[in-house]
Amino acid sequence: MIKNKFFFGSPVKGEYKTQWQAPSNIALVKYWGKHGEQLPRNPSLSFTLSQCVTTTAVHFSPKRGQDVNFDFLFDQKKQPDFHPKVQHFLECIVPYFPALAHYHLSISSNNSFPHSSGIASSASAMAALALCIVDFEKQHHPHWSDEAFLQKASFLARLGSGSAARSIAGPVMVWGESTAFLGSSDQYAIVPQRDWHPIFQNFQDTVLIVDKEQKKVSSSLGHELMEGHPFAAQRFEQAHQNVVLLKNALSKGDLNQFIDITEGEALSLHALMMTSQPRFVLMQPHTLAIIQKIWSFRAQSQLPICFTLDAGANVHLLYPNRDRISVIDFIKNELRPHCQNGAYIEDRVGNGAQKI
Ligand code: PMV
Repeated sequence: MIKNKFFFGSPVKGEYKTQWQAPSNIALVKYWGKHGEQLPRNPSLSFTLSQCVTTTAVHFSPKRGQDVNFDFLFDQKKQPDFHPKVQHFLECIVPYFPALAHYHLSISSNNSFPHSSGIASSASAMAALALCIVDFEKQHHPHWSDEAFLQKASFLARLGSGSAARSIAGPVMVWGESTAFLGSSDQYAIVPQRDWHPIFQNFQDTVLIVDKEQKKVSSSLGHELMEGHPFAAQRFEQAHQNVVLLKNALSKGDLNQFIDITEGEALSLHALMMTSQPRFVLMQPHTLAIIQKIWSFRAQSQLPICFTLDAGANVHLLYPNRDRISVIDFIKNELRPHCQNGAYIEDRVGNGAQKI
């Protein structure tokens, strides 16, 4: 049924060029565990970022044959390492846009953040490519509403990388069915509302780079380890509850509740990795040192700063824009020595992808 909703047998027409910029996102309630065609085991909720972005241009030109065909440049250079992922992604998309197989795609992509910064680029990369493809498809369906357009982009992005479903719009996105959000779906992410409490406007996310290397556990393996995990059922239930609580905190501007849920989610994600089979410890000594310093600084300054973590060693430090000067001082004096080569990236919540 869902296939019908997203299937459009578009006619083949001429060439088309487009370019989209899509942001990274940071999950506050984490997606960890999937089934079927990249469907989540629990709902997740994220802040869309604004500075860490992928820009992708695609030139579609008609070709003969029925196979997926593309060339790919990253930072203006050929990058054969990326080919299998792009190939797989396009193959996943074709059933929902069969006319794609009648085109050659010249794809050129770059990130605003260094490739080796430990920041996952798959969400912004898959979202930017999905948007280019849906933009092309829209030329054959001019009646599509903005909502239908974004929904299909999120749906396709999800097939490439689950969290990419949330890199389409903003400032908050919810992916996965939740009783807290009308219209939420496992198939695509939604923008639930835009009128969150003003304290979350321009909310800051400074990414403290503890380890520039790629993740030691791929997220595909991580999701797989949730199958048969001893705490799986409790975890999925916890995520459902946390989405409800976080919605309340974001609406009311309840920073204490926001901090409690956000940090609890980050530590739960790592606890799940530490207790799966095989086990993984992805935090490093500097990750823990940063967390301890955040807790001491919060207690002593009474400023509402908190952290979240991805499936890696880097720390995302979250805080209101109004406290920026004091927090940046704290970062420079106390946290920077724990960052690899003193590296950190100043990002903030944003409104999503754009055509350029
Ligand atoms: O999108 P994936 O398959 O790389 O999974 C992302 C998983 C986390 O980043 C750990 C959590 C999340 O919800 O983004």
